[in-house]
Amino acid sequence: MIKRIQAWLSRNDRQPKPVEISPDNIPRHVAIIMDGNGRWAKRRGLPRIVGHQNGMKAVKRATIAASDLGVEYLTMYAFSTENWKRPKDEVDFLMRLPVDFLALELDELIENNVRVRVMGGTDALPDHTRGAMEEAVARTKHNTGLVLNFALNYGSRKEIEEAMRSIGEDIAAGRLTAGDISSELIDSRLMSGGLPDPDLLIRTSGEMRISNFMLWQIAYSELWFTDIYWPEFDKSHLHQAVAEYQNRTRRYGGLK
Ligand code: FPP
Repeated sequence: MIKRIQAWLSRNDRQPKPVEISPDNIPRHVAIIMDGNGRWAKRRGLPRIVGHQNGMKAVKRATIAASDLGVEYLTMYAFSTENWKRPKDEVDFLMRLPVDFLALELDELIENNVRVRVMGGTDALPDHTRGAMEEAVARTKHNTGLVLNFALNYGSRKEIEEAMRSIGEDIAAGRLTAGDISSELIDSRLMSGGLPDPDLLIRTSGEMRISNFMLWQIAYSELWFTDIYWPEFDKSHLHQAVAEYQNRTRRYGGLK
């Protein structure tokens, strides 16, 4: 009996109550570390890939919910530079997900005026993954709604290393001087170049770490962590995160 009550309580904790959201203070850029697919599956006695499949459905829910709220940029950490260490079968499966996702959802994303963008080492992706992303980027490039930015084979240290290398090459060639180095110049050389910094960073699954994600760009982001696993994430969780964001006072190191 007690176990049943505990299970009921924990289910209800995982489904937040409706919250009030002010339309005047919507985060422009929300970034999400989608974590817990494997644990979600394990808890149900299912293979890890079923967790990833359900994670893909949560990507769709989060995209539509963010677009409806008026979020301008949504960055999803879909595959890190470290994820290649996973078993080959799982990596292969993860590399098929963007293909399946776009085959299933691209038309609806276009109907919703979503623009797809990608950041990461796309050269190292299998042809089918890179091809699907390139097609989605090309077919949505004139859309003016939410920018859905997939971080694929993305690692923040690698990104910073490449930005430093490109600035160093420009200095060596005399196109820039050391005095030209500024935050704006570094921003423009990052893979997120052209996007504002995330206002709100969400991580699911109860882990409290950043895992090499947008280290430069999240300097002043508001962080929101939740215990729920990514495949459970829906509109109500995004609303809860945005409502909490709206209760924060952002001081950027200054005074209110
Ligand atoms: C982390 O969970 C999740 C990933 C490494 C993959 C994230 C990918 C998706 C959610 C789907 C992406 C969809 C598209 C459309 C690109 P984990 O496997 O590390 O979970 P665990 O920590 O519980 O094992």
